[in-house]
Amino acid sequence: MSANNMIDVVVTQVVEVNELVKRFHFSRPDGLALPAFSGGSHIIVEMSDGEHVRKSPYSLMSSPLDTSDYQISIRRDDEGRGGSLYMHREVRPGMSMRISAPANLFPINNRSTKHLMIAGGIGITPFIAQTAQLLATGGDFELHYGARTTELASYVDELRASIGRRLHAYIGENIDFDDLLSRQPAGTHLYVCGPEPMIELVLAKAAENGWPKGHIHFEHFAKAPPGEPFTAYLSKSNKSIQVGKDQSLLEAMEEAGVDAPYLCRGGACGQCETTVVEAEGKILHGDYWLDDEEKAAGNKIMPCVSRFCGSNLVIER
Ligand code: FES
Repeated sequence: MSANNMIDVVVTQVVEVNELVKRFHFSRPDGLALPAFSGGSHIIVEMSDGEHVRKSPYSLMSSPLDTSDYQISIRRDDEGRGGSLYMHREVRPGMSMRISAPANLFPINNRSTKHLMIAGGIGITPFIAQTAQLLATGGDFELHYGARTTELASYVDELRASIGRRLHAYIGENIDFDDLLSRQPAGTHLYVCGPEPMIELVLAKAAENGWPKGHIHFEHFAKAPPGEPFTAYLSKSNKSIQVGKDQSLLEAMEEAGVDAPYLCRGGACGQCETTVVEAEGKILHGDYWLDDEEKAAGNKIMPCVSRFCGSNLVIER
C-alpha cells in the first residue's frame, strides 16, 4: 500500500454511539460498491487537518456482505495527536474524504472448528464484521466482550440482536480467562482485540493453558505518538525533512513527496521497516514489529509510529 492508491468517498452518516465513540459511514460518490473485504480488515483514513495530512488505521465494522458502505467507529482520544479529535469535531455528513482499500491483518481462519473471540472496549469493531461473516458462512463462534460501563459497551444491544447467546458481555466485571481458555474443544482458534494490557494477559493465559501459537490471533495497532519535532535526512531521495510534533515520520516523508510503503500504520505489519544509516541520538521505537535486540541495535526504524530525539538521523529511503 502507498499514498498513491487512495479511494475518494463521501461521509454519509455520523452517529454518536456514546459519550466517547462515534460511528462514521463512507460511500463512493458515484454510488458504486466499495472494494470487497473480509471480517477483520482495516482501512486507512486520510485527514486533511490544517497544514498536515494525517492518516490513521481503523477496523471495518460493517458487514463484508454489504460493500455499499463502509463503517468504522472511533473512540475519542484527548491525549493523542489529534486524529480522533479531528474526526469527532470536524467530520460531517456530506464531506469528501479519502480512504485506502481494505487490508486484513486479522483474518478468520477458515480451517478452524471453532472461533473464540475476546474483545475489550473499542476492540469490539473487527468482531462485528467477523461475526456477520461467520453468521453467513455458518462458522461456530462465541464472542466475549468486556467493557467498563454499560454506556461504553458499544454495540452490545446490536450484537445481542444479531448473534444472540453467542455474545457474552462482561460490563464492569472481569472475564475468567483461565476458565474460558481451558474448556475449549481442540481445533479452536483464539482472536483477541482491545487494550494492550488485556491482549497481553490473554496471550499469557493462552500460553499457560497450552494453546498452540498458530491458533492465536490478535490485533493491536500502536498509535503514532506526538513528540518533539526532529529532522531526518532521506539518503536515497536526497531530502532533508522536518517531522512536526503532531506528525509521524511516515507522514512527513509523504508530505515531502516520498512514496514510502505501509500497510497498518500502527507498528504491527513490518511494511514500513526502514534502515537507519546514521543516528546521533535515540530512536524512540513505538512499534510491535522489531524485537528487543533489533531495537537496541538501532539499525532499523518503523516510521509509522517511531520518532527520534537527537542531532542527526539518516535513513535509507
Ligand atoms: S506500516 Fe505497518 S509497521 Fe509501519
